[in-house]
Amino acid sequence: MNIGDIKKIAVIGSGAMGHGIAQVCATAGYTVAMQDIKQEFVGRGMAGIKASVDFLVGKGKMAPDQAKIILENLLQPTTDLARAVSDAQVVIEAVPEIMDLKKSVFANVSKLAPADAILATNTSTMSISEIATAVTNPGRFLGMHFFNPVNRMKLVEIIKGEKSGDGNADLLAEVSRKIGKIPVKVLKDRPGFIVNRINAPNQALLNAILDEGKIAPQELDSAMQKTGMPMGPFELADFVGLDVFAHTLEYYAKTLSPEFAPGKVIKAKLAAGQLGMKSGQGIYEWKNGKAVIDTSRETTDITPMEMLAIQLNEAVRVYKEGIAASVSDIDQAVVHGMKAFAGPFAICANVDAGMLTASLDKLHARFGLSIFKPEPEVSDGSYKNFGK
Ligand code: 3HC
Repeated sequence: MNIGDIKKIAVIGSGAMGHGIAQVCATAGYTVAMQDIKQEFVGRGMAGIKASVDFLVGKGKMAPDQAKIILENLLQPTTDLARAVSDAQVVIEAVPEIMDLKKSVFANVSKLAPADAILATNTSTMSISEIATAVTNPGRFLGMHFFNPVNRMKLVEIIKGEKSGDGNADLLAEVSRKIGKIPVKVLKDRPGFIVNRINAPNQALLNAILDEGKIAPQELDSAMQKTGMPMGPFELADFVGLDVFAHTLEYYAKTLSPEFAPGKVIKAKLAAGQLGMKSGQGIYEWKNGKAVIDTSRETTDITPMEMLAIQLNEAVRVYKEGIAASVSDIDQAVVHGMKAFAGPFAICANVDAGMLTASLDKLHARFGLSIFKPEPEVSDGSYKNFGK
């Protein structure tokens, strides 16, 4: 199959990620079937797309005619899986992060889609090779990981499972460019791929800070936002959803280290239905899509330098494990997946390795988590020579 042969994309799931993916594909001119199990879910997804398209028209960023074509001609909302996938050249799944659910979706899609359709999962963390066991002809199966909000985040990680074909990875990278995204290839199917994996130990740090109870989330967020991040780390956790935050930690606890397990504060929030932005209350209260955050005080107890040290340390592990082709791919992924002003290798190119090591040693001693221990290449500064 060539890029020109791709005319119709089916998106399975119409939640935040699913309807975002459907929107960007239709905006690029693809016919897009958006399927979900209930009409109510499909309707909510279509309303989300309409609100975003209307916003763009209101700002003069999209012609009203194009909006009409997207909403009335290109998008095909449906609850019928066969109708969605039977004539699609690409199928992208964005259902909840439950392995058995994803496998059952792909077992059905394998039966109903054309035998040569490329099948992709938008999983955030899970094994592509394991999901592929449910797919007939797994050479056509890959990870295609978008970032939230899909209509504004540029990165798409293209992840190869053990059996994924190189040609199909190249084709999905081309589709990503066509829908206005920046693809970065993930060479090894490891939990969290590139960006989420690099963020994993900082997620564990947030978890530990909540359980320790000494630093108020708003004090850390205020300090971190001063560094130019679009959102503080606790605000981002609420934005993505505390349920997603906890699921990813549970997955890392099973696959990377038990130290990632969600703690008592996060578990209590989930039990109380406090899921973040989507439920109106999480770590913060949310009003009109914005977190209510008191930014009058900042902590100096945990510093941006310490969180950067954690990020670099994990980026070094990602590089050493061969998950990304180069440090520049890692930096690109962080910049476009999180709207960071630069990636960890670029930022730390001129930072004293002794300072990074001291930060990591301090956090290791304070929280007792070995995932914060500095990698040898951070301690001796040789990460600065990776790829040279
Ligand atoms: N539809 C389309 N475009 C919109 C829009 C909408 N509904 N609302 C706003 N925009 C456009 C604006 O016009 C603006 O465009 P411009 O830059 O060309 O002028 C742009 O989006 C930014 O708009 P705002 O100024 O309103 O947005 P904010 O400054 O409030 O930023 C944000 C909002 C983009 C969410 C920003 O806070 C951000 O980037 N946060 C970090 C998000 C992040 O890190 N995401 C990754 C999470 S991890 C993940 O997804 C992995 C997964 O596996 C869980």
